Amino acid sequence: MSVQTSSGTGAFRTAVVPAAGLGTRFLPTTKAVPKELLPVVDTPGIELVAAEAAEAGAQRLLVVTSPGKDSVAAYFRTDDELVKTLEGRGKDELAEKVRRAPGLLEVESVYQYEPKGLGHAVAQAGPALAQDEQAVAVLLPDDLVLPTGVLARMAEVRERHGGSVLCAFDVPREQIAAYGVFEVSDTDDDDDVKQVHGMVEKPSPDEAPSTFAAAGRYLLDRAIFDALDRITPGAGGELQLTDAVALLIAEGHPVHVVVHRGGRHDLGNPAGYARASVDFMLEHAEYGEDLRNWLNERLKD
Ligand code: UTP
Repeated sequence: MSVQTSSGTGAFRTAVVPAAGLGTRFLPTTKAVPKELLPVVDTPGIELVAAEAAEAGAQRLLVVTSPGKDSVAAYFRTDDELVKTLEGRGKDELAEKVRRAPGLLEVESVYQYEPKGLGHAVAQAGPALAQDEQAVAVLLPDDLVLPTGVLARMAEVRERHGGSVLCAFDVPREQIAAYGVFEVSDTDDDDDVKQVHGMVEKPSPDEAPSTFAAAGRYLLDRAIFDALDRITPGAGGELQLTDAVALLIAEGHPVHVVVHRGGRHDLGNPAGYARASVDFMLEHAEYGEDLRNWLNERLKD
């Protein structure tokens, strides 16, 4: 599905992918390998997210990276030599895989020199936007939202309501303390579009204002960059994107969520990453059946 990308208030051309974090939950690996490049089966999480952005109509991926993580942007460069070698050996399918990431959309990178938080990472993208870009999508590369397509719905909601649109999951109340939770009211749209009045980070189940938890997809009005300039460090001493969104809400900027009724994998920690790998592998034409048989045997122990 493609969203209109050159006009209309829902439109966006640039998708920002913050990838400058330290990845501490994946140490020691992340000393040398950015977690955004860890493969799900054989493809880095950031390529899956780039493909989602391209499918939603983004023309440009702006990767926020750090000087030590240049391999993230390098991954999206063409490698004609490798493609030629593979084709020369008759490995056309592999050549196609190598060509895929650079062919998805235009990729640029900007630096975040210090990991001062997600809000600070997104702020680095502001100067790279063209004057006429009224909105920008933000996709967290360690958050897989399945099936894809929620960004297109979010763009439709921005078209109708203006402002910024976020993505939510309906989480069982007993698990809600792990998430950022929205305070919402219904709209005249379908049941899965809600207006947001506030956000609470990691509330206890009895204090949570709803069971709608934030996922890593945002369609932000460019007003976010002004708000990001005005916030001060929040949780963990970091500049938090949710604090900038909360500031916009307090100032009357419309914020809505689309509740996504699908799956999700958190690639940012070893347990979530293992789950995603098993899930994708089980669906894989070549590896799925073997893994299923092995797991069945293994689980008998
Ligand atoms: P995370 O909190 O999941 O990533 O941020 P992290 O900080 O790298 O991981 P841990 O907690 O230390 O294990 C979500 C996304 O935001 C990016 C991360 O790279 C990740 O893709 N991020 C986070 C930045 O780009 N800059 C930051 O300062 C913080």
